Amino acid sequence: MADLLPSQNFSSHQDVKQEEHQETHQKLSELVSTLPKAKGWATQHVHYHQGFWFNQSPLQGIITLQKSFEARPTDVFLVTLPKSGTTWFKALLFTIMNRNRYDFHDHPLLTANPHECVPFLEMYAMENPNQRPDLSLLSTHMPYTILPKSILASGSRIVYVYRDPKDTFVSLWHFMSKLRPKELPPLVLEDAVEQFCSGKSSYGPFWDHVLGYWKASIEWPDRVMFVKFADMKNDPILHAKRLAEFISYPFSSEEENEGVIHKVIELCSFENLSNLEVNKSGSYKASSASKIESKTFFRQGKTGDWKNILTTEMAEQIDGIIEQKLKDLV
Ligand code: A3P
Repeated sequence: MADLLPSQNFSSHQDVKQEEHQETHQKLSELVSTLPKAKGWATQHVHYHQGFWFNQSPLQGIITLQKSFEARPTDVFLVTLPKSGTTWFKALLFTIMNRNRYDFHDHPLLTANPHECVPFLEMYAMENPNQRPDLSLLSTHMPYTILPKSILASGSRIVYVYRDPKDTFVSLWHFMSKLRPKELPPLVLEDAVEQFCSGKSSYGPFWDHVLGYWKASIEWPDRVMFVKFADMKNDPILHAKRLAEFISYPFSSEEENEGVIHKVIELCSFENLSNLEVNKSGSYKASSASKIESKTFFRQGKTGDWKNILTTEMAEQIDGIIEQKLKDLV
């Protein structure tokens, strides 16, 4: 009987924690329901909070993080807008940071989706409100102006990936169309362009998201790195080297001579990752309530695919915003 007591205590403790968690979840869900809302992409609505639009679950996570997240000086945050290269850069940063730990022939990325190797902070916080992941590489889509204060105060590094907004939009439209529940009407391309250009997309307005990190990268170049998807595509060796230096994991000249940078790039390439069994047939548990097929994160991995989808008018509409809002950085 005696040895049953600790586990009984433990389970009642767990029950209390579970109840507290449900209560917090309920309160946050009620709070989010009072915020201004607009038509959603993969969910019925997006919700407005501190200048940006969010889906319900990540927003609950963000509010939790804003209250209590404690960053560490050694943390590296990968920040992206959805569909601007998160999967690829998770793989690259994970491989660079762990290259002395794992052999390239027996590497976690060969059997796990990059999203399983690098936690997505908002969803993690939504599910684990009182904890932080005990890892130093973390990813988020949070806009700069709403980041938890400790991230800026801690001295940690931020890598921000910028992708051409038309390519990001097209990738987002494909992705959200796949995730959108069958009960909702299909996501009409014309409507989605309107929503994107009015700023009402997940983590939008996209221009304010980009500008926040771009300005921060100019003000604090040692803390915030602004890297372009297209540049990494065009010259992966140069940009992987810069990435490694920025996060204080520089490649040594021996490593360069041994071709380690090539190995990192090859392992993380679209061709390699998208053809792995785990990414062809596996699924990624985005939260306890949602699973996404891993192959959804790998479509074409190219630049310029927008030309095959957008009409001239649609492209001009997005270009108009780029010209007006992002002209200094493109
Ligand atoms: P496309 O839909 O244009 O193909 P995210 O990872 O932020 O969700 O972004 C997904 C986009 O990145 C998709 O773009 C996907 O194909 C592309 N992608 C995923 N893995 C990649 C890789 N290893 N290299 C280049 N692009 C990649």
